[in-house]
Amino acid sequence: MGRRRSNNGGSSSSSNIENNNHPQVTKLCIDDDDNELPEEMITPTTDQSMSEADNSTAVVGGGDDDKTSADYYFDSYSHFGIHEEMLKDTVRTKTYQNVIYKNTFLFKDKIVLDVGAGTGILSLFCAKAGAKHVYAIECSQMADMAKQIVETNGFSNVITVLKGKVEEIELPVPKVDIIISEWMGYFLLFENMLDTVLYARNKWLVNDGIVLPDKASLYVTAIEDHEYKEDKIEFWNDVYGFDMKCIKKQSIMEPLVDTVDQNQIVTNYQLLKTMDILKMASGDVSFTAPFKLRAERSDYIHALVAYFDVSFTQCHKLMGFSTGPRSRTTHWKQTVLYLEDVLTICEGEVLSGSMTVSQNKKNPRDVDITLKYELNGQRSKISGTQHYKMR
Ligand SMILES: C[S@@+](CC[C@H](N)C(=O)[O-])C[C@H]1O[C@@H](n2cnc3c(N)ncnc32)[C@H](O)[C@@H]1O
Repeated sequence: MGRRRSNNGGSSSSSNIENNNHPQVTKLCIDDDDNELPEEMITPTTDQSMSEADNSTAVVGGGDDDKTSADYYFDSYSHFGIHEEMLKDTVRTKTYQNVIYKNTFLFKDKIVLDVGAGTGILSLFCAKAGAKHVYAIECSQMADMAKQIVETNGFSNVITVLKGKVEEIELPVPKVDIIISEWMGYFLLFENMLDTVLYARNKWLVNDGIVLPDKASLYVTAIEDHEYKEDKIEFWNDVYGFDMKCIKKQSIMEPLVDTVDQNQIVTNYQLLKTMDILKMASGDVSFTAPFKLRAERSDYIHALVAYFDVSFTQCHKLMGFSTGPRSRTTHWKQTVLYLEDVLTICEGEVLSGSMTVSQNKKNPRDVDITLKYELNGQRSKISGTQHYKMR
């Protein structure tokens, strides 16, 4: 139903939806007014809109047997394509820009640490907002570009780009006042860069320091998705007359990162977990959370959908953004977890269960998810447990 998958996470603007009735969005400030910046803050650009272009994420060096998945992870950030995609995600980048430019009081004369600086965009925003000094740590080859970008734009005296891993680098100062980072992965926790932010926080942040963003919340809802489930999962039942159900088992275990049309939503949504980046411990990224999803109409349920919000609560006005299906599309889209069973739910009935999220033991950048669900309804009496792996 009006949904498509783009293979390489390319930006999508065709299904952009803004719905100010969505509770998470109304409390956050991403409306157009908030995107209006003071003249002097606006760096001239040609086009800030989401691009329809194919922003493929290139993985450099594919096929090299000696490389670990960590090497591939960092290599992927060496190519400009992934940075282009992130920069063109205007929900993401303009929210950070607004947070910084509209709250210059936070930055004035402060020492800032940009964890995973990429092109250096967040460091440049902070420098422009009056930070005393910004340390921009980036481990991929993009650090060389960031150095050039800082120089070209005349910020070499304020921004120091440090090439290396946060976990291995020597910072020229003992403490910083602010840590800023864009660490969120698909399903919030894929890539597990949050651990790097927590490491930096524990090592360098002053006692009354701030982390931007400081809150991240994961939500779940349920959708009707017959057409797409047929195309992606049931397809394997009969391929040119042959039974390929063994692949179906694998495909259902892989959460699908895709945009979900808000018309597919059948139930209300449930908050699974809020992470307080200033206070949480590294182990808190693994958790089990119960959910109760009440049907808002009678329909079939083919999948659960997870998405996240981030917020910046230290701002003058609460700011942040949502990656939910009722908000404007971001490059994170939503994460769809298909159910083996098709559930028939009647309006008012409750689909209950729990979601367990944990770092994969072999590769902590991957996420393992276990979903337990139960529906004791008029048309479906069913319970199940499914395991998913985000790779
Ligand atoms: C999601 S990107 C954000 C880039 C940039 N801050 C932006 O907002 O456009 C995360 C960046 O962090 C870098 N990174 C991830 N883990 C890191 C680590 N442990 N040490 C240094 N850099 C890291 C990646 O190479 C990548 O460029």
